[in-house]
Amino acid sequence: MATSIAGSRAAGDEYLELLKDCLTGAMYDESAWKLIDGSYTGRFRITKEIRKWFLKALAKRGLRLVKANEFDAEKRAEGMDWPLFGYTMVGRKRLDQLQLAIEQIAAEGIQGDLLEAGVWRGGASLFMKATLNRLGLGDRKLWLADSFEGLPRPKQAADTKHRGHDLSNCDFLKVPQEDVVALFERFGLLDDNVKFLKGWFCDSLPTAQTGPLALLRLDGDLYESTMDILKPLYSKVVPGGFVVVDDFYTWAGCRDAIHEFRETHQINAEIHRIDASGAFWRVPLASSSAARAA
Ligand SMILES: C[S@@+](CC[C@H](N)C(=O)[O-])C[C@H]1O[C@@H](n2cnc3c(N)ncnc32)[C@H](O)[C@@H]1O
Repeated sequence: MATSIAGSRAAGDEYLELLKDCLTGAMYDESAWKLIDGSYTGRFRITKEIRKWFLKALAKRGLRLVKANEFDAEKRAEGMDWPLFGYTMVGRKRLDQLQLAIEQIAAEGIQGDLLEAGVWRGGASLFMKATLNRLGLGDRKLWLADSFEGLPRPKQAADTKHRGHDLSNCDFLKVPQEDVVALFERFGLLDDNVKFLKGWFCDSLPTAQTGPLALLRLDGDLYESTMDILKPLYSKVVPGGFVVVDDFYTWAGCRDAIHEFRETHQINAEIHRIDASGAFWRVPLASSSAARAA
């Protein structure tokens, strides 16, 4: 049974709070803007704020920039939109949960690296790095795994049976590794403990040279991607460590993968709800190695 942690928002560190607003794009009205393709129907109003040269550049690519809605702060906090100017799709509540988890890792002395599989523009990973540094844990390795060229074309029935789950052609989701590196540099957070694992999860993760993991964050949307993360990495999550699933309540394929994996490996740890989409559980302290040997 899922329980809610809503309302347990971490607070008190102005730098991290400001970072959340910045990374989620919540401080910019422009976050509500949307890019749509050449099939523009006139349903949306082109914003006046856009400079002419920018519109022309977009038009050349068959794109228009439109203001679909006024900024919806609640939607952004829940991470239920794709912010045009934010650095993470994850909303504030999922960043709050990451902060709480890392604070618990520090307070309880849980050893291990942190890994996000599915980083997009890198904002959630960057927030993890900032929190680690803030807590004096900057020597922990932070691994960022992504194709850096978007989602794969779904192959498995668990994904193809869901309409709209093929996002392999979605350019918005294709963010090159150089852009993520540049983001870390821009925020002064790039150092030798930030490690990149480029490639499809099924290729990059089984041979990844990570140590034990204190936190594993899954954000690959699909059943296939979720399984490709869990199979090689779950057994690396230490007792007391966190398994955070970004898409648990919003992507049926991801949820199916989680249920199937937990059932196969007899994982009974309670699933906690974060917000409209995210969930997490902690590997029990007394978890047997048999259950964890995925
Ligand atoms: C929803 S985005 C991640 C959002 C991100 N965590 C954030 O903070 O905004 C999903 C990411 O997963 C990556 N991805 C999905 N499936 C993958 C796979 N099988 N192998 C490698 N990358 C994958 C995509 O390239 C994309 O960057």
